[in-house]
Amino acid sequence: MALEWPNFDGVPEDDSLTSSRPRGQKLARFLWWDGEIRESDELSVHYYANALHYGTAVFEGIRVYPTRRGAVLVRLREHIERLLSSARLYGMKVPFSADELTRAAIEVTRRNGTQNGYLRPLAYFAEGPIDLRPKKECQVRAFIAVRELGTFLGEDALRNGVRIMISSWRKFHHTMLPTMAKASGHYANSVLAAHEALDHGFDDAILLNQDGTVASATGQNVFFAKAGMLFTNDETSSIVPGITRDCILDLAREHQVPITIRAFTREDLMRADEVFFTGTAAEVTPVRELDGTVFKTGKKTLGAFFQRAYLRAVTGKDESRAAWLTRI
Ligand SMILES: Cc1ncc(COP(=O)(O)O)c(C=O)c1O
Repeated sequence: MALEWPNFDGVPEDDSLTSSRPRGQKLARFLWWDGEIRESDELSVHYYANALHYGTAVFEGIRVYPTRRGAVLVRLREHIERLLSSARLYGMKVPFSADELTRAAIEVTRRNGTQNGYLRPLAYFAEGPIDLRPKKECQVRAFIAVRELGTFLGEDALRNGVRIMISSWRKFHHTMLPTMAKASGHYANSVLAAHEALDHGFDDAILLNQDGTVASATGQNVFFAKAGMLFTNDETSSIVPGITRDCILDLAREHQVPITIRAFTREDLMRADEVFFTGTAAEVTPVRELDGTVFKTGKKTLGAFFQRAYLRAVTGKDESRAAWLTRI
């Protein structure tokens, strides 16, 4: 069935949404740290922080975008709730409520005057004895740091797409670690795959599960399109079910793009018309090549359509998605 796309003739809006992005990742002056706004360079982490040794921290990444009515945080509440749920999975009692963390995120963004940025809330088991039971004796500390962030996977990734490989590292299964948690220790797996991609001259990598189905990219969910249908996997494929993924599924439902959520394989990707990544940092990034297989990118693709719809929503140009945005 041929689908009629709504009027769309730019990727995205001939770059008006991406051209004003900052180039660097400058750190902001203030952070929120255990209940107060402080100068960022005052924060120090003890060299015996349990998190540093054993990866026992949980975190989030939240985008700040400029809109006509000032800066906004995207899906703030969902990110804060996921942070607290990740903490719970690790037996970490965060001494702040969702409301307090939500207010803290708004306050630290306001104090820094951030427009194009990225918030990093992080809760961790702090210093204590050498012990693999940090919940017994280590205090839980939390901070929310802020930095500038433009496009994540490179200047022209949003427009022209990225070249990726299948990593030789497999994704750990949800019976090994709670994969729905965003926990620091889990990212050793992503770092290995990302380094491998770098060493082989690719922009990023996809990790397969032990059974050969696709899990995700190093820090993004994977979608593909075939004959006008949109496909992605879910948490049974050991993914972090992304908040951006949820935004795309919501937009797809609105625009009546048929969605299939199922486990899929490398072969499904190789036979796809299009592949794209979603993530808070990566937004909606098209994949132009997977280990030599080339996909459609650019105008008139589903990926470009969703990229534009997403960027319009998060920059306040789509009133129907105002509920995703928290004004600063
Ligand atoms: C492994 C992994 N998968 C998926 C995502 C995308 O999640 P979200 O869209 O909530 O940023 C992320 C990013 O946080 C991630 O680290």
